[in-house]
Amino acid sequence: MIQLNVLLLEQDPGRRSNLEKALAGKGYGVRAVPDAASLLAVLAANPPHLVMLDVDLPKNEGMAVLKAAHDSQPSVPIICETENPTVESAVEAMRRGAVNYISKYKPMTESLEFIDHALERERMEVETRLKARERRVRTFDDPTTLSRIDGILSEHDYKESMLISYLQDIQKDLNYLPQDALRFVARRVNVSLPRVYSIATFYKAFSLRPRGRHLVHVCLGTACHVRGGGKILESLERELGIGAGETTYDNKFSLESVRCVGCCGLAPVFMIDGKFYGKMTQDKIPDIIVRYE
Ligand code: FES
Repeated sequence: MIQLNVLLLEQDPGRRSNLEKALAGKGYGVRAVPDAASLLAVLAANPPHLVMLDVDLPKNEGMAVLKAAHDSQPSVPIICETENPTVESAVEAMRRGAVNYISKYKPMTESLEFIDHALERERMEVETRLKARERRVRTFDDPTTLSRIDGILSEHDYKESMLISYLQDIQKDLNYLPQDALRFVARRVNVSLPRVYSIATFYKAFSLRPRGRHLVHVCLGTACHVRGGGKILESLERELGIGAGETTYDNKFSLESVRCVGCCGLAPVFMIDGKFYGKMTQDKIPDIIVRYE
């Protein structure tokens, strides 16, 4: 069972202690802090699976802290609690990245239910990623994969001079170059592993991390950043269920952020397999993603 962790900022010591005990009683790991500085420090050093944030902070800093927390770890869901719920503040909180906005006047059991619900989604995502990782490991152990790679090497009589070509063909087959594949090549071609690595890391076309059939690049250069590139990345992360630098469990999409791609006039911009999508808004993303098989 995966241990899910909650980071809790509650100023009231009594409520903090009650929430901490209730969450620990449900089997969650809990880190409870009394102020914004501690919350942001823990969030940066050790991201939890969920943040529970008391937004009634001194000097009306709650919304600013919410935004800072969301900017620091965009993929971590944040639930806000307040003693002064209004429609306007709820809208503002959602705009700044909260996934829920709860009144403290409701029974604590309701807050705990919202937390359970948000963490259940996190659990499913974590499990999906773990399964994907296991699948990737199994992929290389599969004897048919090994024999395909050996076939690629034997086509050129295991000649060292064909190393780049071997790596290109292996990547075409597996979509990336697993470490075990590089070791296998080094052994069969009778060259040192550092030599194989030096080639695999020198050329940008090679990837040592799993990549999907479709590469999604989101521009976070200055122009795109200013015009909402971060929100576009967030929407893509939500739509694909992965973070930047990751690949979907079915190896369909890989998502990466890049710096200026040279068409700032169309900002914010993202690309799929080199095709540009400019002047992007979050609501257009689902329709674009479904076009890719
Ligand atoms: S900053 Fe995104 S295209 Fe230039």
